[in-house]
Amino acid sequence: MINLYKGEIVLMEIGFYKDQFVDINENVVPIQERGHQFGDGVYEVIRVYNGKPFLLNEHLDRLVKSAEAIYLELPYPPERIYEIISEGLEKSGLTEAEIYMQITRGIAPRAHLFPTTPSVMSMTIKNARVVDKKKRIDGVTVTLMEDERWKNCYIKSLNLLPNVIAKQKAATNGHEEAIFIRDGFITEGSSSNIFIVKNGTLITTPATNFILHGITRAAVIKLASKCNIPFEERKFDREFLNEADEAFITSTSAEILPISKIDDISLSPNRPITNLLYNEYCGLYK
Ligand code: PDD
Repeated sequence: MINLYKGEIVLMEIGFYKDQFVDINENVVPIQERGHQFGDGVYEVIRVYNGKPFLLNEHLDRLVKSAEAIYLELPYPPERIYEIISEGLEKSGLTEAEIYMQITRGIAPRAHLFPTTPSVMSMTIKNARVVDKKKRIDGVTVTLMEDERWKNCYIKSLNLLPNVIAKQKAATNGHEEAIFIRDGFITEGSSSNIFIVKNGTLITTPATNFILHGITRAAVIKLASKCNIPFEERKFDREFLNEADEAFITSTSAEILPISKIDDISLSPNRPITNLLYNEYCGLYK
């Protein structure tokens, strides 16, 4: 935002609620809002590098799909959402940032049936979740946990209770991430997708309704093809993961983050494919 008095750019975190930009700390949401009473809404997290929202169209496409999947009619076309994101970013003056965009089923007396007017909320904030260099080099430890979520994990819904509980349990036990297992097969992390490398082939869980179809995941798959790395989408179990030559998680905030240990099982610190893909990924926004 331009400080008119001094003419200088002031960096600030900024919110958007009901057609207005607001101070990030302003109290704007009433108690009877479906987002926090029912988790009745969908969201996206978008990373900003060098002043540009990264893979924005892909995020907006997924937002539209998530909204359709929960029968939520978007109050604006995606072009308007694009404008809100751009305007918020400009007003914030931030060049490295995280944008959170949330659309809920709106404000209404608390009853389960759908009301009609959705709310759009967004915030442009500083990147609080940038992974430090040490973790990037050493890798992170993860812990396996039963996937207790519903069956529509491809929807980026606000209902994240199983995810936050798993992440907290993992953190309490000194791990970076909880990796979920459903019916004996690895699905994804509590806020990330998972890849492994075995005998030179890159492998990830298929994009079914049991995982979020990560934007970073899709970017990595494209990069693998560009680098002629053999790639397979297929189910794999705990034993296969433990015997991986390399493993990493992906997300908008973590990017491509190597796994050094799965519970008590250490993986090799040699990670040629992970490192290659990470360098290529950084090249997409540099
Ligand atoms: N989480 N799986 C889950 C369950 C996630 O919550 C996320 C992202 C991903 C990775 O998706 P993407 O590559 O599109 O960021 C996979 C975001 C970052 C969050 O909730 O903060």
